[in-house]
Amino acid sequence: MTKWNLAIDGPAGAGKSTVAKRVADQLSMVYIDTGAMYRALTWLALNKDVNIHDEAEMHHLLKESDIRLRGPEGEEGIYVNGTNVSKAIREPQVTNNVSYTAQHAAIRKEMLRKQQLLAAEGGTVMDGRDIGTAVLPNAEVKIFLTASTDERAKRRYEEEIAKGMDSDFEKLKKEIAERDKIDSERTEAPLKKASDAVELDTTELTVDEAVNKICLIAEKRVDAD
Ligand code: DC
Repeated sequence: MTKWNLAIDGPAGAGKSTVAKRVADQLSMVYIDTGAMYRALTWLALNKDVNIHDEAEMHHLLKESDIRLRGPEGEEGIYVNGTNVSKAIREPQVTNNVSYTAQHAAIRKEMLRKQQLLAAEGGTVMDGRDIGTAVLPNAEVKIFLTASTDERAKRRYEEEIAKGMDSDFEKLKKEIAERDKIDSERTEAPLKKASDAVELDTTELTVDEAVNKICLIAEKRVDAD
């Protein structure tokens, strides 16, 4: 059987990364978190005082940086110029700025090239916003994962509380709505369901249920080919 790719897109906080990671494990595929690539560049810009709104400066920064989705020994993690930033890229300051990084056409073009290379051999579960529409338009299986804004804010809130962080539900809800707006209204590869993607609303689903449903959809699609 030829190796195939699975694209998972959807808005912030719909559970994409948790679900995608589990699906990849279950199907013995490689998980690729494309949001982490935009986050890594945002982290670097904040650290180097580069203006996130300046496309040319951001493009220059991306060109001269080394962003990897594996550590030196092949271990899981996001590395920027050799530094493990896996935790740092989840900090609120990065989260609240990453949508601006992801608006720039020059950045998206470069990220798309890197992501297509990562999936060139097949066998990946790639999550993001534009995987089914722009990065892997020929992906054999496409899922569009959603959940209500309230449910997404609730999940983030519980995550933050579990990590021992201070959290404010209403503030999170506003931030999520703001990111949705920027991600879906940008000109370049906006967040959008691909016409051939299967939409899965996870508002009422547990992680296990969402994972099982996606694996079933994938197996059916791939077997049918
Ligand atoms: O999935 P995430 O929250 O880690 O994504 C971070 C940001 O990156 C999000 O605001 C949208 C952007 N993004 C994107 O534009 N395209 C992708 N393929 C992945 C993420």
